[in-house]
Amino acid sequence: MNTLILGSGGREHALAWKIAQSRLSEKIFIAPGNAGTRSLGTNLPIGVNDFDHIKTAVIEHDIDLVVVGPEDPLVNGIYDYFQQDKILCNTPVIGPSKAAAMLEGSKDFAKDFMFRHQIPTAAYLTVDVNNLSEGMDFLDRLSPPYVLKADGLAQGKGVLILDQLAEAKAELKSMITDAKFGDASKKVVIEEFLTGIECSVFVLTDGTDYVILPDAKDYKRIGEGNSGLNTGGMGSVSPVPFANTEFIKKVEKLIIVPTIKGLQSEGLIYKGFIFFGLIQDGGNPKVIEYNCRMGDPESESVIPRIQSDLLELLIAVGNNTLGKHKIVFDERYTATVFLVSGGYPEKFEKGKVISGLENMNNCIVFHAGTAKDIENNAIKTNGGRVLAVTSYGYSLRQALNNAYANAENIHFEGRYFRNDIGFDLGAR
Ligand code: AMP
Ligand code: GLY
Repeated sequence: MNTLILGSGGREHALAWKIAQSRLSEKIFIAPGNAGTRSLGTNLPIGVNDFDHIKTAVIEHDIDLVVVGPEDPLVNGIYDYFQQDKILCNTPVIGPSKAAAMLEGSKDFAKDFMFRHQIPTAAYLTVDVNNLSEGMDFLDRLSPPYVLKADGLAQGKGVLILDQLAEAKAELKSMITDAKFGDASKKVVIEEFLTGIECSVFVLTDGTDYVILPDAKDYKRIGEGNSGLNTGGMGSVSPVPFANTEFIKKVEKLIIVPTIKGLQSEGLIYKGFIFFGLIQDGGNPKVIEYNCRMGDPESESVIPRIQSDLLELLIAVGNNTLGKHKIVFDERYTATVFLVSGGYPEKFEKGKVISGLENMNNCIVFHAGTAKDIENNAIKTNGGRVLAVTSYGYSLRQALNNAYANAENIHFEGRYFRNDIGFDLGAR
């Protein structure tokens, strides 16, 4: 079985690492990949939205299965592109159809879907240029803080949480009338603010049956104590201590089952990962967001905890036979610490030589923003989020200690990582 993985981050390295362990795996291709994925397969210099070149690669390399890492190609319809092509239609794409990917591609679509299927989520109103004054009235009736979400994809930057009513009103106007987030904020979802701890739950589905993957929590802010700017993710842990069996059972009954049944009843084809961003509100789960893919940096702690053969499960998704499979977890904890470039998520430099990777013990290093400098036989930084260091432990503290001991041994100019991953879960 030859697999093509689309993407270039730590999530895609983790997928390649796991698929490479399958007895069914022959060749792995990653487009475009990074310096880490090179050691597991062949990197192809093709962008994730370049469907025509992806098609050529699938034919040339005899690809049997395509796993899509990021949301962009899914929202742009890569699933449908394969389905509608005479040559590609028999090659399964792991991901939802374009229509179902709207669960991530449009916050308004996702909220409407949840209300249609009685899936617990925050109260909301969607506003555009035609009902802006209704939006202002809705804000008047909410209590602070105020949550404003650009409807479309905005590279993770489209959510504003504001303490002052006047500021919320000004931002709402700026999002809609000044296109603060471009077309993504032509429509804005105003939401009731929910208080509680967040966690992420992942499901792999063939559209009918599903398996629930290990849960995780990610740390989005650049600074310790969850301070400072939002990032693509500074670390993650799995499992989440408060997400016990009873909580996950509630998630399954109130959220997972109605979501999959809802997709089915509306004829929305979904054969891939569903990411449920949840908040525990008074012991009960509510959906903060859907994503139509695995999370990053959650994948770097979730995938190492899957003991089952992931490739076998992905093939079953393609064949509609997932119901015949069970998923087995590694019972240990995992913790992931992200090493990032100095200055990230604002201005940062690339091309710094990375050293120390040969001295790793008790950890897995997943590459994200790295590139191989073949001429100088060096690995260099090539992005803001550079490397994810994941370790196992019999306790969360042990997993974190192992990950930190290794993170300390990796060096590059400007290296930064948060020292408090897991801090709010009683681990440190
Ligand atoms: P989203 O892109 O929808 O996941 O939102 C980004 C982040 O904003 C979430 O991870 C939460 O931390 C926060 N957030 C979003 N919606 C709400 C809400 N209704 N109440 C509280 N926090 C929220
Ligand atoms: N960690 C959040 C995301 O992948 O969107």
